[in-house]
Amino acid sequence: HWTHEERAAITGVWGKVDHDCAGTETLVRLLVVYPWTQRYFSSFGNMSSVSAIAGNPKVAAHGKKVLGALGKAIDNLDNIKQTYTALSELHSDKLHVDPENFRLLGDTLIVVLGNKLGAAFTPEIHAAWQKFMAVVCAALARQYH
Ligand code: HEM
Repeated sequence: HWTHEERAAITGVWGKVDHDCAGTETLVRLLVVYPWTQRYFSSFGNMSSVSAIAGNPKVAAHGKKVLGALGKAIDNLDNIKQTYTALSELHSDKLHVDPENFRLLGDTLIVVLGNKLGAAFTPEIHAAWQKFMAVVCAALARQYH
């Protein structure tokens, strides 16, 4: 269900950005802009200020992990649901993450990508990434019941 242009937009951006850096920045922004998301990361230590969040090594490490998982979805664009079965079960049954937060993370990542790529993040590329993140969110929310 992807056009050739959408595939090129998704993989093209992925090839251009530093994943670790984008992952860290996305998670930092999520935790700062939507502070209620901090409740899931009580084991991560100090999140008392923007600089504490930005300097928290557990936040950085986790941001990298999340982007690593997105890389798996990009490698399996035609099979994202199956790729995320275990991850969806984890977020649902074990972590009890409200799936609305997946959407917030997706929107935040898109802001970060736009910021990094500037004019190269065209409206068409933006639209393809919105579709990609919507599919990712649906796959992650799939095992909730
Ligand atoms: C753990 C991916 C969104 C909360 C994880 C892990 C991955 C992951 C790969 C590690 C799993 C493991 O250790 O086996 C993703 C992806 C997301 C996403 C791809 C969306 C695109 C979220 C959101 C929240 C969240 C929005 C909460 C606001 C957590 C928590 C953990 C976790 C609390 C466990 C952290 C720890 O204690 O180490 N996620 N996640 N995730 N995720 Fe997510």
